[in-house]
Amino acid sequence: MAVGTSSLMLGGALLLLVLSTTTEVHGGPSSRATPCSPLPQLCTSLGPWYVGPNDCVSTLCIDPSCRSAPGLPELALIATRLTVSNATVAKASLEHALALAKDGKARKVMRSCLELYTGAVPRLQWAARSVAAGRYRGVPEVLLDARYVSSKCTNLAGEGALPKENVEFSMMAYVAKAVVEWVQLFIG
Ligand SMILES: *[C@@H]1O[C@H](CO)[C@@H](O)[C@H](O)[C@H]1NC(C)=O
Repeated sequence: MAVGTSSLMLGGALLLLVLSTTTEVHGGPSSRATPCSPLPQLCTSLGPWYVGPNDCVSTLCIDPSCRSAPGLPELALIATRLTVSNATVAKASLEHALALAKDGKARKVMRSCLELYTGAVPRLQWAARSVAAGRYRGVPEVLLDARYVSSKCTNLAGEGALPKENVEFSMMAYVAKAVVEWVQLFIG
């Protein structure tokens, strides 16, 4: 009788153990067993970087393949590639604004800002190649520097004096840095 009870208890404890282990595996950040998109999981995890889930989803989903990305490395790559194309667009819009600007001081500021973007684009391309190869080291730093390009330009020119793409780029680089850092924590 006593033996029966204790083995029942043991059985119950084992069942609990199995259940909790299973839950952990399926809820874990590096789980490959979950058939659903890793996007919501990623985007609800960026709070410590001050990136809310909605900003995360809407920024990454500028690339429509965001929801079919099979895993975190692919999402990190989407984020980094979007930052490259966003920088390229910001650079082009600055060139356009510079071509139209007449005021000498405004032109000077735009030229300095353009130089910063011209330097940032190849570094971001390097970052995208690294992430594509599964190498994350140095990438968050490049994304952070890229974000500073946008704020340096705003500081030079003052609010509203530059094309809106400059500010949009800041947001993109910020989200991409958070995404890559988070993915790096789990994939390394
Ligand atoms: C650049 O990023 C912003 C988000 O910060 C987005 O609204 C905009 O559409 C992006 N532009 C391009 C060309 O990717």
